[in-house]
Amino acid sequence: MPDRFTGRIAAITGAASGLGRATALMLAQEGARMMLFDRDAAGLAITAEGCPGSITLVGDATSAADLERAAALARTELGPVEFLVPAAGVLGPAKPAIELEEEEWDRLFAINVKGPWLAARAFIPQMREIGQGSIVLFSSTAGLVGSPFLSAYSASKGAVTMLTRSLALNHAAENIRVNCVCPGTINGPMSQASFALAGEGEAQLARAAVMKSRIPMNRFGEPDEIAAAVLYFLSDAAGFTTGAALPIDGGRVA
Ligand SMILES: NC(=O)c1ccc[n+]([C@@H]2O[C@H](COP(=O)([O-])OP(=O)(O)OC[C@H]3O[C@@H](n4cnc5c(N)ncnc54)[C@H](O)[C@@H]3O)[C@@H](O)[C@H]2O)c1
Repeated sequence: MPDRFTGRIAAITGAASGLGRATALMLAQEGARMMLFDRDAAGLAITAEGCPGSITLVGDATSAADLERAAALARTELGPVEFLVPAAGVLGPAKPAIELEEEEWDRLFAINVKGPWLAARAFIPQMREIGQGSIVLFSSTAGLVGSPFLSAYSASKGAVTMLTRSLALNHAAENIRVNCVCPGTINGPMSQASFALAGEGEAQLARAAVMKSRIPMNRFGEPDEIAAAVLYFLSDAAGFTTGAALPIDGGRVA
C-alpha cells in the first residue's frame, strides 16, 4: 500500500525510539512527511535518516510551549498537519500506587496524560483548517486492565483510553477521528526497562518469563505490528472508526 500517505503530513512525539520510531519509519515508507518530536536529539537524528522530507524538533512533551512550537514549525515548513501520533510515554516506578512519591506521580501523569492532551490541543487547529484529521494515542493493555506491578502507569494509560474516547466525541462532527492502540509487551527499550524494574540477572529474566507466560500467543510483539495498526487507524480505510481502543497483545486481554 505505497500511496496511502503520499503528500500527507503527520506529527509524531516520542519519535526517537521504539514504537514512535517504528511508526515514523513505516509512514515514511508510505510517503508521509513528518514533524518528528522528542527530547532525545541523537535518537531523533537516527529516525530522521529514514524519513526523507521530514523535520525534527527537540522538546519536552509535557511543555505546551514546545508543542505549540512544533505545530507552528510543521505548519510553516511542511503544511497543515493531518495526522497526529503522540507516542511519548514512560513507565514510571514499579510500586503499589500509594507508595509513589508525589513528584513521581505528577511526572508520570505529565508525560503520559498531559502530553497527548497538549499535543492534541496544539495540532487539532490545523486539522480543522483542512477539514479532516486522524489521531492515534498510545494507551496500553495496562490502560484496559489493572496492573499491580505498574499501578500508576496503568492508571495513566486508563486516562489515555478515556481521553481518546472523549476527544473522539469532541471532534467527530469535524471529521477528526481519534483512536488508540493498546499494545501488550512489545520487544524494545520500554519492555527491557520494565523487566529491569524487577531487579537484575535472574529477577529480570524471571519477570520476562512471567510476562510471556501471560500471553496466549506465547511471544512478545514486534514494533512493526503496532506501527501497522497505527497506520490503519490513520488511513482512509478506517474512515468510520473513531473512539476505538485496540488491544494488540497476542490475546493478553482477550
Ligand atoms: N513498548 C511496549 O511494550 C509498550 C506497551 C504498551 C504501551 N506502550 C506505549 O507506547 C508508547 C511508546 O513506547 P515505546 O515502547 O516506544 O517507548 P520508548 O521508551 O522506546 O520510547 C519513548 C520515547 O518517548 C520519549 N519521551 C519520553 N518522555 C518524553 C518527554 N517528556 N518529552 C519528549 N519525549 C519524551 C523518549 O525520549 C523516547 O524516545 C508509550 O506511550 C508507551 O507507554 C509501549
